[in-house]
Amino acid sequence: MPFDEASNFNVGDGRPSLLPFRGIYVMQGIFKEETLMELEHFDVLHDDVFIISYPKSGTNWMQVLMRLVYAEGDHKCLEGVASWEKTPWLELQKSKVLQLSRPRIITSHFPHRLAPHALQEGSAKVIYVARNPKDIIVSLYHFCKNALFMEMPKDFQSFLEVFIDGKVLMGSWFEHIQGWMECKHPQLLYVMYEDMTKDLPAVVRRMCTFLGKTLTEVQIESVVKHSSFTAMKNNPMTNFSKAEKLFEDNIKFFRKGKVGDWKNHFTVAQSEWFDAVYQERTVGLGLDFTWDLP
Ligand code: A3P
Repeated sequence: MPFDEASNFNVGDGRPSLLPFRGIYVMQGIFKEETLMELEHFDVLHDDVFIISYPKSGTNWMQVLMRLVYAEGDHKCLEGVASWEKTPWLELQKSKVLQLSRPRIITSHFPHRLAPHALQEGSAKVIYVARNPKDIIVSLYHFCKNALFMEMPKDFQSFLEVFIDGKVLMGSWFEHIQGWMECKHPQLLYVMYEDMTKDLPAVVRRMCTFLGKTLTEVQIESVVKHSSFTAMKNNPMTNFSKAEKLFEDNIKFFRKGKVGDWKNHFTVAQSEWFDAVYQERTVGLGLDFTWDLP
């Protein structure tokens, strides 16, 4: 089992519902409240690098990119050990985090207000991965249908409603983006899934500058090649085929990897409704993300 806590979610006999925790929602049987409570005092080291994201924003992609950047494009870094062991989730795999060699690459889906205090104060580098929320909704909807530890959504309309209400894994997307967008310390790099899709070499160069790494163009090409959707989908160390059964179909985690799939799921009315909520809930945030790239 990749996670610290025993997987006692009820496989085969109905799906567990999400557990409320301090204004967000976590997976029952996988997250443990006592462990989560301790995380605000987690000992952040000055050379830690955190990958922070709302679920389905491209987290696993960023984990692989980070490993390849630190390995200067050498794809052998992706062999032998499953991805989630090398860039563990703080809230799920604290014991693995404590075993990492430095600089530690640590992943978290926590909103800013629940992150370790030291991190909130800017004591380590953070790469925040953001994605068009409409594509997140679609991705999360399919993820919930596939993941044995998630409540099965009734239909897309009701899932959209609970998403807007923030009653989904990790709570409100609006709160998540607001918290991390407002915390503009110099140790924070914002990366967009859409930019990764459009011009990954440019994103890798930005990451290198931020992390203080110097990679040649050949090494950057290798990073890009070995982190592609197809490469990750076919690599047993990144595609979840080595994880114990967490999904109806583990490989389906790599669903489409595209920008704009929301257009195949939202009706015009649903899209207009979400846009109106988005406008209202993101006022003043200065979001300059260009979500809908061709
Ligand atoms: P879709 O469901 O839209 O296909 P996370 O890792 O945060 O859970 O995000 C999962 C989403 O990222 C899924 O989106 C998945 O297919 C996509 N993804 C994962 N690796 C990718 C890659 N190398 N290139 C593009 N998209 C990727």
